[in-house]
Amino acid sequence: MDTVPPSPFRFAKPTTEDLPRLARLGYDAAMVHCGACRNYHLTTPYFRAIGIGGIGPEFAWESQLDTLLRATAGRETVRWLLAGSADAGLPGLLGGLAAARPGTEHTITVVDRCQTPLILCRAHAAAEGAAIETVLGDLRDFRSDGAFDAVLMHFTTIFFADDELVDFLRHTGSWLAPGGVLVAGFLHDRPSADPPHGNNARVTSWREAVIRAEIEAGRLDLPEDIDTFIGRMEQRGPRRTRRFTASDVTDVVRAAQLRPREVALLPFADEEAELWGHDCRQRCFIVADRA
Ligand SMILES: C[S@@+](CC[C@H](N)C(=O)[O-])C[C@H]1O[C@@H](n2cnc3c(N)ncnc32)[C@H](O)[C@@H]1O
Repeated sequence: MDTVPPSPFRFAKPTTEDLPRLARLGYDAAMVHCGACRNYHLTTPYFRAIGIGGIGPEFAWESQLDTLLRATAGRETVRWLLAGSADAGLPGLLGGLAAARPGTEHTITVVDRCQTPLILCRAHAAAEGAAIETVLGDLRDFRSDGAFDAVLMHFTTIFFADDELVDFLRHTGSWLAPGGVLVAGFLHDRPSADPPHGNNARVTSWREAVIRAEIEAGRLDLPEDIDTFIGRMEQRGPRRTRRFTASDVTDVVRAAQLRPREVALLPFADEEAELWGHDCRQRCFIVADRA
């Protein structure tokens, strides 16, 4: 297989998070607090600090901000619920939103069933001198009737089985204040069938090369050997791969008694897109309110 040369180091992401510091903090937190989610929560902040994985709020940053700006237009205050947050990326994204539209006050509550992302959210908020409320628990059991103007469920949908998604989305509607909006991310259908296995292997090989180059250059503090870390990458989970067309997404949301307002396609537009091929993966946001 052709070796793909590592890209240059890319800390220069739009977020104000201190990604290298948060990556190391996340490592320590994941070792203490994570169970089955350790590989996921430990690797995510490093991937973001390195700039690989096509994950995280950096992916299609401007497109995401556009959607969030439209979803919250006309509000002087927005009470946000972040329904799942792999690390501090979502508070970071909302920081970008606040900068894009000064004068709006944002309050943030984060719910996650693991303490590791909550620790990172609190660390980022403290560094910014901002307030944040964190709640440890399963979103299925989270009750907060009508308390939020906006719920951002940033691809947490991949953690839910098909047969529980509608009930769960109906439950998310109960968190919304009158006029409030749900912004939920889904893996979006590709224009064609899954890319050939070769593309998958090329992406994995490129990611490994970038990780090795960054860690060997000593720019990130990783307290384990690179092969162990790469092994975690290969077993990150969740394994959910169902992709939704725009019409699937609106059907699911309507079945949950929510009213779709907008479906926004978020192109997978970074170096990895080239490796995946012209029909690379996409994601989408659906914006909905209570019917
Ligand atoms: C997909 S991540 C957030 C997405 C990330 N920002 C990204 O860009 O890909 C989802 C988070 O939701 C949490 N989560 C998954 N299922 C959950 C549940 N039932 N209750 C609470 N948190 C959950 C996971 O622990 C994880 O931190």
